[in-house]
Amino acid sequence: MIMEEMLPTERITIKNVLSPDLGKLERAAAILRRGGLVAFPTETVYGLGANALDEAAARRIYAAKGRPSDNPLIAHIADLAGLEPLVTRIPEEAKRLMEAFWPGPLTLVFPKSGLVPGGTTGGLDTVAVRLPSHPVARAIIRLAGVPVAAPSANTSGRPSPTLAEHVWQDMEGKIDLIVDGGPVGIGLESTIIDVSGEMPVILRPGAVTREMAGRVLGRFVLLDPAISGDVPMDLGLRPKAPGMKYKHYAPKGDLTLVEGTSEAVAGAIRQMAEEKLEAGFRVGIICTDETRKLYPKAGAMPEEELILNLGPRGKEELIAHNLYGILRRFDDMEADFIYSEMVPADHLGQAIMNRLKKAAGYRIVSV
Ligand code: TXA
Ligand code: MG
Repeated sequence: MIMEEMLPTERITIKNVLSPDLGKLERAAAILRRGGLVAFPTETVYGLGANALDEAAARRIYAAKGRPSDNPLIAHIADLAGLEPLVTRIPEEAKRLMEAFWPGPLTLVFPKSGLVPGGTTGGLDTVAVRLPSHPVARAIIRLAGVPVAAPSANTSGRPSPTLAEHVWQDMEGKIDLIVDGGPVGIGLESTIIDVSGEMPVILRPGAVTREMAGRVLGRFVLLDPAISGDVPMDLGLRPKAPGMKYKHYAPKGDLTLVEGTSEAVAGAIRQMAEEKLEAGFRVGIICTDETRKLYPKAGAMPEEELILNLGPRGKEELIAHNLYGILRRFDDMEADFIYSEMVPADHLGQAIMNRLKKAAGYRIVSV
């Protein structure tokens, strides 16, 4: 048996994320330059960075995450000048999307140049590129002087980290450094749009919504049918973003989504929760501000039951921000069964429901 090598994972905290201490971040850049692994905050989720041009460094990312090596990584750049060396062509529609949404939570898939090794793109002839807006992420990439491959900094199959603490839980002993920049802003991974073909196609919904992209391009933007959220992956459609085919974002417990009117949903969730509690299981419930009152009060609940609130239904940004942290808390309490309400799947709700349905393995009960 090969013993996995444990690394003494360092941790540094950046207090002023808007204008970060570059002296501290130089440490992160130095580790990246020598092929090491650094987790850092972005505006979407925490990323696990390595030099995107160094295949050995990319292999370390796959090992730390336990991620299949056919699942390509996103190359993060610090400014627009970083794009050209990585791609062979920048289509007109890509330029319009970049103007509107970069820096920000949008990843674009381009035909890749010879500079990008197959080891970071899972052998594909395309490369996904993102110019993040988070000042800490951009400073680290700029100081490193190389494009930085960065998947979400979670163990493969777990919810993406929205706090440095989540990264610590998954990556302690496996990576060189965690840069703690506090909670991330958005809480869901970037929108991915493939601009390498005839027409732009959304491969993963995110904070740059289909409606927003459509407005900029002046047309209806296609969504990869395999990820519309209604089709389980095992029905044979192959998503174009290889990562979308895995059962991602999965909590340890069995998650079931319940759809219908608020009262009917809460009633059904209460009933299923009570049955499981009586059978001796630990149960989690995901509700919203508007429905919290339809469930028992905190003090009245048995220890085996945890009810967590996503936030107000009208505020999709808050729901997106809270979702992964809530899923992780159910893992921490070792919930056996989790029941969740749903939100409308338009605008940011499309990304929220995409992640929730995947986490639930498409188990949905209509009442
Ligand atoms: O918000 C984000 O994008 C975060 C932060 C850290 O930037 N990163 C992230 O990376 O979510 P990751 O590796 O967890 O997800 C990347 C997704 C995967 O589903 C992968 O298959 C897809 O992007 N992808 C990467 N390169 C691709 C390519 N050339 N063609 C199609 N899909 C690609
Ligand atoms: Mg990920």
